[in-house]
Amino acid sequence: MSEQKKEIVLSGIRATGNLHLGNYFGALRKFVQVQDDYDCNFFIADLHALTTNPDPTQLHQNVKSILAEYLAAGLDPEKSTIFVQSDVPEIAEMYLLLNMHVGIGELMRTASFKDKARKALGIGTPADDSDEAFEKEIIGASTNKRVNAGLLTYPTLMAVDILIQKATKVPVGKDQLQHLELTRRFARRFNSFYGVDLFPEPTDFDFGGAPVKVPGLDGSGKMGKSEGNCIYLIDEPKALRKKVMRAVTDEGPQAPNSPVSEPIANLFTLLELTSTPEVVKQYRDAYADCSIRYGDLKKQLAEDILAITTPIRERINDILADETYLASVVKRGAERARERAAATLSEMRHIMGIRKF
Ligand code: TYM
Repeated sequence: MSEQKKEIVLSGIRATGNLHLGNYFGALRKFVQVQDDYDCNFFIADLHALTTNPDPTQLHQNVKSILAEYLAAGLDPEKSTIFVQSDVPEIAEMYLLLNMHVGIGELMRTASFKDKARKALGIGTPADDSDEAFEKEIIGASTNKRVNAGLLTYPTLMAVDILIQKATKVPVGKDQLQHLELTRRFARRFNSFYGVDLFPEPTDFDFGGAPVKVPGLDGSGKMGKSEGNCIYLIDEPKALRKKVMRAVTDEGPQAPNSPVSEPIANLFTLLELTSTPEVVKQYRDAYADCSIRYGDLKKQLAEDILAITTPIRERINDILADETYLASVVKRGAERARERAAATLSEMRHIMGIRKF
């Protein structure tokens, strides 16, 4: 494939802390796998991090640690454009322009907004989860518990990240699919409103498989930083083993071929991501004939996770210590990312009628 014909892949991770297994299996591992065959662009979403964690003392450190984790996991600046979102100011301008074509209703109905807005307001999911009830909650919220407008327009910013590079393939975990659907909708809407063919419609990118949702170890739900149930790439072996051994289980299968409860299904999901099919089969068979010992399953799981994370963890600190290298990677990445971003923005301004005297 010639250089120009390679399809454009783009994805990013928010700068909100260290990377966990959800980020790794949902995103980073896929980034590394596609580097040779696509025009790859991977960034650190520091502006998106501001929607929930505006902490000036932490932000730059978080950007640096994710950059080091990207590189330690195998992202190669010779193959991929690696950059920091805020180093591309064209993104902020396009965010303003695209917002003129986005409805507040569609943003308010986004699952991630509902979830994060309720967290910001300190309320759980009420019995009445209708859009109307949610609207009342937001509008009626007292001013000292604010849901910031950046959280509402999060999907616009994410769409801009993708559309400004005209990316068509976006490797993400399952939780981001609704944002991708909105991105396609915004692209279509812009193209048809102005009668142009500016933006391609991006799709998720999973090599034929389905996007994954990596579960936590606490029995239910996904692994996530705000859930406090994460295994991090940088976890030391001792701490990691301890976390896995403490994973929630049940009393064990009481009869052959019993249905699998959620906490155990989650352990199997993790085992499938980290172990060989033979090992998974061995434990599934043991569950089916009631001979399974959860302690053994957890030990196996911890060692298989460590086999993946240890080589990454061992590289992270060396990379983090080399500030000059880190700076050179993102400088070059920003230059490349800005080139295409500036071209798209200029087309967009022209289409929208913004002209210079
Ligand atoms: P973020 O930072 O929440 O997550 C980064 C990536 O990790 C995936 N992920 C998971 N996948 C499976 N199971 C889990 N438990 C799990 N937890 C996290 C996410 O799906 C994601 O792929 N909005 C994005 C960042 C972003 C972006 C973009 C992505 C900003 N602009 C443009 C792609 C394209 C986010 O919040 O990721």
